[in-house]
Amino acid sequence: MLRVVLIFLLAATAPAPAGERLTVPTPQAAVDRMVELAEIQPGDKIYDLGCGDGRIVITAAQRHGVEAVGVDIDPEQVSRSRENAKRGGVEKLVTIVEGDIYQTDFRDADVVFLYLQPDLLRGLIPQLRRMKPGSRIVAFDFGIDGAKPAVVERGAFGERQHCTIYKYDVPWVDDAGTTWDLFTPSP
Ligand SMILES: C[S@@+](CC[C@H](N)C(=O)[O-])C[C@H]1O[C@@H](n2cnc3c(N)ncnc32)[C@H](O)[C@@H]1O
Repeated sequence: MLRVVLIFLLAATAPAPAGERLTVPTPQAAVDRMVELAEIQPGDKIYDLGCGDGRIVITAAQRHGVEAVGVDIDPEQVSRSRENAKRGGVEKLVTIVEGDIYQTDFRDADVVFLYLQPDLLRGLIPQLRRMKPGSRIVAFDFGIDGAKPAVVERGAFGERQHCTIYKYDVPWVDDAGTTWDLFTPSP
């Protein structure tokens, strides 16, 4: 049993080897809850960094009629997302960008959704720290190192028994009580 737990922990925290990106989608029940937690307002701009099949941006656009951008590096996921947005009737609201999240400027985001391995999340921190005050980050399964979530929800969502959703309000307060805002120098 201990061995199984250790293997799981290693898999969850070790950087994915190049070409082995995690492509598991967020269960739709968790997507629904994440979109609720994001407290999306009319006129908000939404991003999903590493959007997979587009389910999060599509759900946000369908529920709230907001502009939503999904970014993915994998061309197959990009075409799947575009098809899904069309099928879901929100292709006018949803833009799917084929590209690298580390080269993406999302400073105009009101909400950023994330489902990325811990090492990928860590690399994104300098960009996340530049998000505007009042914006929100909602992450699935993995939290952001050093940032204190405003909400943590654990539970079963759809087919997945043990999931965690983290919601962060920007500016964030880290574990040392430091406020991270637009004017805090990057680490
Ligand atoms: C675990 S999936 C999550 C998909 C979707 N956000 C969801 O929650 O269902 C992570 C996605 O991030 C994408 N990804 C990983 N690294 C990336 C990078 N550097 N730039 C853009 N996309 C990336 C992968 O191709 C994959 O589709």
